[in-house]
Amino acid sequence: MASENVIEPGKPLFDNIHGKWNEFFGNDNEIVVELACGWGEYTLSLAEKFPNRNFIGIDIKGDRVWRGSQYAQNKELENVAFLRMHIIEILSLFDENEIDEIWLTFPDPRPKDRDEKHRLSNKSFLQKYQKLLKTDGWFKFKTDNTRLFDYTLDVLTDFQIRDHVFTHDLYHSPLLGEHYDIKTKYERIWTEKGEKIKYMKFRFAD
Ligand SMILES: C[S@@+](CC[C@H](N)C(=O)[O-])C[C@H]1O[C@@H](n2cnc3c(N)ncnc32)[C@H](O)[C@@H]1O
Repeated sequence: MASENVIEPGKPLFDNIHGKWNEFFGNDNEIVVELACGWGEYTLSLAEKFPNRNFIGIDIKGDRVWRGSQYAQNKELENVAFLRMHIIEILSLFDENEIDEIWLTFPDPRPKDRDEKHRLSNKSFLQKYQKLLKTDGWFKFKTDNTRLFDYTLDVLTDFQIRDHVFTHDLYHSPLLGEHYDIKTKYERIWTEKGEKIKYMKFRFAD
């Protein structure tokens, strides 16, 4: 993969970008990260709607990230980058307090007990996101999966958080405006199957 807006292992930038994301984008605009971005629809749509913010989509699957990267290049979106990596390594790629907002969109639910360690909203992952988010930074999470959503609400009882709002039915909630009318691939799939979309946002208290 040779796209300039994709940062991945093997490229020199991958080992040097830590703490330098604003330098990479060449501005002081806010940094928004989408975890498990898949094909990057959310990252790309937000980047088109908010040209004065920088967006970084992260996913481990190269073909998905590549599709998003091509779209960004074709549309000349200079406020978009993709990181191909395992999110477990995220602390190596960002400095503490470097990120203004994190979105977690439709992560794999990993329902088996033995797979809890892979859930991207488990305690250990949330502790990493807490380090990376600025004091006033939002964490925003959307999923179709009720068990994963309720599991995450339970995990959050171990954290000091503030401004926490959530809904088990985003499309019939006053929070719908926060959806920006953007549907990712998995959101479309599960909505068509009749699943309600769950959404929450909060800030860490310290
Ligand atoms: C169900 S898909 C959702 C994709 C997209 N957010 C959407 O809504 O269409 C979950 C994505 O998470 C990615 N993923 C799962 N675990 C990951 C990890 N530890 N690090 C990076 N990406 C991961 C997968 O490659 C996959 O693209």
